[in-house]
Amino acid sequence: MQRRDFFKMGISCIGAVALAKKSQALEYYPMPSEKKWAVIYSTWCGSSRDAAVWISEGLGGIADVYDVRENPDLSGFDNIIIGGSIRSSATSQDLQNYISSNKALLKLKVRGLFAVCGNMGNPVGPQQTVTFIDNHLAKLCDVSDKPSKVFLGRITKSLMDPQTAAAMAGAQDYDNLKRSECMAFGNQVLQTVASAVNAETALPQDMDLAQNYPNPFNPSSTIAYSLNRPGNVLLQIYDTNGRTVRTLLNAGQSSGRYHINWDGRDDLGNSVSSGAYYYAIQFNNQTLTRKMLKVK
Ligand SMILES: Cc1cc2nc3c(=O)[nH]c(=O)nc-3n(C[C@H](O)[C@H](O)[C@H](O)COP(=O)(O)O)c2cc1C
Repeated sequence: MQRRDFFKMGISCIGAVALAKKSQALEYYPMPSEKKWAVIYSTWCGSSRDAAVWISEGLGGIADVYDVRENPDLSGFDNIIIGGSIRSSATSQDLQNYISSNKALLKLKVRGLFAVCGNMGNPVGPQQTVTFIDNHLAKLCDVSDKPSKVFLGRITKSLMDPQTAAAMAGAQDYDNLKRSECMAFGNQVLQTVASAVNAETALPQDMDLAQNYPNPFNPSSTIAYSLNRPGNVLLQIYDTNGRTVRTLLNAGQSSGRYHINWDGRDDLGNSVSSGAYYYAIQFNNQTLTRKMLKVK
């Protein structure tokens, strides 16, 4: 190594230390959380990635943050915030495909939705929430009444593919994304979930879901649950991609203890392959989920 390079390396090391010091200054005070959170975003040029990171910051830094193109496995998460940037009034096809192939789990776990748009530089109003959240993301995830936020984002032509950049030649770059707004939204979602959890613990639980028996199993297994009041029960089996494999029950029941047998078959009567599955019970706006394993 030449002396000049050595000197250069020294400078870049000092730079790295300075950067490390700087990033240390961004301290998190994470809220204690037993629940696993994820923020999933889709972006073309990075606005939604930054929004997702800042939303996670607003959660106290407890969330894992994923680009949807990483195809994150949702099964390990309890609470998910999902969203992305808008082009031609919709989020990316990657995000739409991901949501549709993980719809069942997302329906159970989505706690917040967000979109990042340009809106021609105008402030975001209720119309954007209707277009990008209610009529788009919420429909894709099959949820309603979740906390949501539409942010103004950025245009960075130097980050675009050449074709898009050429089409945008006349437009000026802009940066309207605000970290404080993203953090406030993350915090809002956290507070909503925290108050729901408090409400749940304050009241006696409406139901209980036991681990299936036997587990691992082949060919069949029994799922036991109890209801502390009457209501409609939806009991479904999902695969690890969140697809509904079998609906075991969708009916009104009175309070009491129940058990139901799953014969290891899907809704079409085919025996499912060995591997992990989830079973979830939805009752009076509460959902409990457990994992089970079918073996050969
Ligand atoms: C090709 C293209 C189409 C766009 N279409 C819309 C649109 O229909 N509505 C809108 O409000 N913003 C639209 N925007 C603005 C982007 O949503 C906004 O700049 C966003 O921050 C870009 O996010 P990204 O950095 O994650 O790619 C468009 C931007 C581009 C480049």
